[in-house]
This record gives sequence, structure tokens and C-alpha cells, in this order.
Amino acid sequence: MISASAPGKIILFGEHAVVYGRPAIAAPLAQLRATATVAPGESGVRLVAPDLDSAQWLHEADQNDALAAALRLAQTATGIRQFPPMTITVTSQIPVASGLGSGAAITAATIRAVVEFLGRADLLTPAWVSALTYEVEKIHHGTPSGIDNTVVAYEMPVYFARQQPHNHIEPFAVAHPLRLLVADTGVHSHTRDVVLDVRRQWEADPDRFETIFSGCGDIAQAARHAIEMGQVAEIGRLMQANHELLVQMTVSSVELDNLVRTAWQAGALGAKLSGAGRGGNMIALVTKETETAVRHALFASGARTVLTTVIAHNTVRLAQS
Ligand code: MEV
Repeated sequence: MISASAPGKIILFGEHAVVYGRPAIAAPLAQLRATATVAPGESGVRLVAPDLDSAQWLHEADQNDALAAALRLAQTATGIRQFPPMTITVTSQIPVASGLGSGAAITAATIRAVVEFLGRADLLTPAWVSALTYEVEKIHHGTPSGIDNTVVAYEMPVYFARQQPHNHIEPFAVAHPLRLLVADTGVHSHTRDVVLDVRRQWEADPDRFETIFSGCGDIAQAARHAIEMGQVAEIGRLMQANHELLVQMTVSSVELDNLVRTAWQAGALGAKLSGAGRGGNMIALVTKETETAVRHALFASGARTVLTTVIAHNTVRLAQS
């Protein structure tokens, strides 16, 4: 039996604008993971997702089913003519439709477990897993930038820009650990729908949206510098500025604005929505001293869950992938 997992993710800076070529910064959310387990079966390939109360045979799965798509891609990429009989069980701690990369994590975990089960663990570099996961993300999201699959497969904070022929993926130094609260509005929101709506608005008013996107890109660039220099107060200020631009894109919501304002008033250095928006999660930059007060205030303002994550020095080097 083989098991593999992949983490959730948060976008620190630059969501949506990253779809339009601007840089963005994301980090893994290691304490929430998706796990896939592959066990030998008696016949056929069985896909089991107990969280969703679902079990199906691969040969009967819908063309657009993400798990089935991940398997078919893995089959083509490994050159295996026929899968051996096996049962793949997928579970996830990452809430769905909440901006935390649940889809990408499930796909990456499944690809890792299945490819290792097939005896091809040698293929499983972060770049390879990321590329396959991206193909499945297209089914979920339509026009994904590639940042979710990248951060989930590399499992480290990345500075990312969508580029041809290869995306720009850069790890960076974190001079001072960043303590973040991740608070869930409890409102479900589908990335595909929000990304599509931003595209419609961009098509209707390209000049205005290009200006907003460029503002987000400048913020991501400045934030990277501030993170590398350990300028924590400046990082907080940039988060506020990024949130304002996301409000202008209309991807915030009453619940997100409420939690962002609450965090700020309770002593956070900065706060913003994270991910596609219109629901899902927000992040607040805190210190050890302000963490408890901000957490309590977020719960009192309606947050369903509040997690702490600390983004510290990058320990993984891209060159090893
Ligand atoms: C979703 O995590 C981030 C978005 O920018 C979409 C994307 O980059 O594919 C909203």
C-alpha cells in the first residue's frame, strides 16, 4: 500500500492579477493536507472518496471528473499501457471551495501515490507533479495561472509569474518569520466562477482592470522585497493595499471585508482576502503578542475556523527538484 499527501495553500499577494501575468506570492498551508492511498485491488481501478461519500470505477467516471483526469494523465505520462487492479482512496482536511487549494492538493497527492504505486517514483519531481496537476486544474478552473499547483507541488513559499514558455518560479528568503491567522468566512465560493467574472469585467473595461492588476503586481514585488528584508510592518501595509485592490475587482464580500476590518482593528499588522474571494478565507498578519486578541476578535466576528501558520525561512532549494 502506498500513501502520499500534498498541502493546502494560501495566496499572500497577487491573486487574480497573476492570471494576467503579474507576479504573486503564495505559501503552503502544511497543517491542512490531502492524502491519497493506493492498495492492490482484485479487478479494475476503483476511486473512493469517503469525504464525498463517493466510490466509482475509473472506466465509468465522467470525462470531467478531476480524479479520473489525474489518473488518465498519470497513465499517459508514465507510458503504462494498463493500470494494475487497484483501489485509490482520497481524503482531505482542506475545506472545498474556500480558496485553500483543495483541488490542487487532492490531484497532487493522487498523482504522487499512483505513480509511486506504479514503480515510477523517479518521475515525481515537484516540477513534474506541478505540470500534471496544472492540466487537471484547467478542468476545475478554466484559466488557472498555475500558482496553486506550483505551491502545492513544491511545498514552499514561491514568488510566481505566469510566463511563456516557462513560468517564473522563484523561492525567496524570509528574513523574519511571518505569523498568519487564516480565518474562514464559511461561505463557499468556486474559483472558476470568480475568475470568469473577473475576466468578463476585464473584457468590459480593460484599461481599468489592467491598472488594478499592475497595482497588485507592484505590491507583490514590493512585498517580496519587504519579506526578504524582514520589514514586517511594511508587509502588513501592503496586505491592506492589496485587499483594497481586490475590493475594486469586486472579489471581496461583506463577510471578508468584515473579517479584514476586525483583524486590523484588533491589532493585526495587515489583513486581506486570500484566493479567489467572494467567500472562503482571509489572512491576517499578527505577532505572538497580538495573535490571541486577533483570533478572538475573528471568532467574535463570525469566522468559522481560525488557523495559525508561520512562514519561515525557505528550506527547500528549487535546484533540487
Ligand atoms: C486562486 O488560488 C488564485 C487565482 O489567482 C486563480 C489563479 O491564479 O489561477 C484567483
